[in-house]
Amino acid sequence: MTGQADDGVVCVIGAGYVGLVTAAGLAERGREVRVVEVDPERRAAVSAGRAPIHEPGLDQVLSAVVGAGRLRAVESMGEGVAGAGIVIVAVGTPPTADGEADLAQVHAAVDAAVEHATPGAVVAIKSTVPPGTTRSLAHRCRRENLAFVMFPEFLREGSALEDIRNPSRVVVGGDDPAAVGRVAALLGDPDTPRLLCDSVSAELIKYGSNAFLATKISFINEMAHLCELTGADIEKVADGMGLDPRIGRSFLSAGLGWGGSCFPKDVRALETSAGYHGQSFWLLKAAIEVNSQQRRRFAGKLVQGLGGSLDGRRVAILGLAFKPFTDDMRQAPAVDVIRQLEELGASVVATDPVAVDRARPLLPRTALVDDPYAAATGADAVGVVTEWPEYRGLDWERVLRLMRGRLVVDGRNCLDGELIARAGGVYVSMGRRPRDLAPAAPPEVGELIAPEAIPPLTLG
Ligand code: NAD
Ligand code: UGA
Repeated sequence: MTGQADDGVVCVIGAGYVGLVTAAGLAERGREVRVVEVDPERRAAVSAGRAPIHEPGLDQVLSAVVGAGRLRAVESMGEGVAGAGIVIVAVGTPPTADGEADLAQVHAAVDAAVEHATPGAVVAIKSTVPPGTTRSLAHRCRRENLAFVMFPEFLREGSALEDIRNPSRVVVGGDDPAAVGRVAALLGDPDTPRLLCDSVSAELIKYGSNAFLATKISFINEMAHLCELTGADIEKVADGMGLDPRIGRSFLSAGLGWGGSCFPKDVRALETSAGYHGQSFWLLKAAIEVNSQQRRRFAGKLVQGLGGSLDGRRVAILGLAFKPFTDDMRQAPAVDVIRQLEELGASVVATDPVAVDRARPLLPRTALVDDPYAAATGADAVGVVTEWPEYRGLDWERVLRLMRGRLVVDGRNCLDGELIARAGGVYVSMGRRPRDLAPAAPPEVGELIAPEAIPPLTLG
């Protein structure tokens, strides 16, 4: 613990989606960056200038900054933090069984970092943590010469590098204005909006942003359901609503709902946190319920379209990752949907351009293939779960020739329904108006299945 803390040197703890992208972005901007990572495979990949996760553009940046000696992966915390002016904590905060954020990784990382950090360093918490965590970490720390700030991250997987290079805003919260200012200078350009505040507000800005976006999606999904009941078209409704700049069109894409490593865990963690403070956050409870109902509604459309039963039916699922351009399978809707279909008697063949390997351990009963045409071969129905652009671009005439049945359920409203109907398919969406498509009710359709009739998944 000698020498002076130098803000030109940054230590990032955790080489995951957030840590590694942040580290790459900082190294690109000229800082000397060390990434402390406990996982030897992740460390080895970074040392070789390769990304251990699928994130567009990350391989190229890593290879450049590692090659130039500006970013290095290390195992030892002492080596990582030595001389660093800023130590960014970007380890996981997965959900506990009760829905709280599990802070074990944060505590372990912070405890190890503060033991070795250079006097004058700022510890910046980038992991998403419940209100009050940054202050309590500062109180736990016995050292006077370190400052703590909350430095929430708003990047999206699939466009994470772009988001680090051009953040929508930089938010830093803490009690020491100098420390807050040093961290706020790390990212963004002079025009980037910067919001400096206390750490509890910064923690709630992060949770509030994710929870608001998730609620917006659940709202449009409820509207999509109403569109189906009234004959309206959810895309027109979303376009029209989105033209109001106070509403905006983004996050109004109806479909299977939100998944991923953050929305599900953060919405629940915020709801749980509110509960600890005696508040029932009803809106979040409803957003969560609507989200889980969307998955059952999608399964219900397959059951209904196949005449009321999935017993012995073969269903092809296109898309496994929780969204396109990532291989992240954490809380991916595909997992719930496929397990539900399998419980209802279907045999499922699923595919994804990049997530098949990560999906394999989660879906032991499912046949996983790389080629969407192979998945569709012999299928009674095809269901789209992730809106990869290549699925819209498939040769749908060929897909329909390969299938045994004709049903295509578009869980992301991403396909050209008219084209599929012209090719002889029965196209079913999540609230799109059938327009001049073939009648939505195909001859083999059975009784209407209410989502409540699809049993919730029995886990475990
Ligand atoms: P991740 O699981 O991909 O990465 C965390 C990494 O930290 C792992 O590689 C793990 O091995 C490593 N790690 C754990 N403990 C460590 C320790 N003591 N020392 C060194 N390395 C350690 O997680 P992530 O998706 O990058 O998310 C990290 C945090 O950022 C979470 O709190 C998440 O909520 C938040 N966040 C994530 C995103 C996102 O898009 N993934 C966006 C914004 C915020
Ligand atoms: C989200 C936020 O957008 C980021 O700002 C935040 O930093 C991040 O969570 C986080 O805290 O981890 P991400 O999970 O990468 O980013 O993905 P999003 O693009 O937000 O999509 C989340 C989920 O919502 C996906 O399952 C997506 O399919 C779904 N979604 C999104 C919709 O169903 N409809 C929409 O209109 C938009």
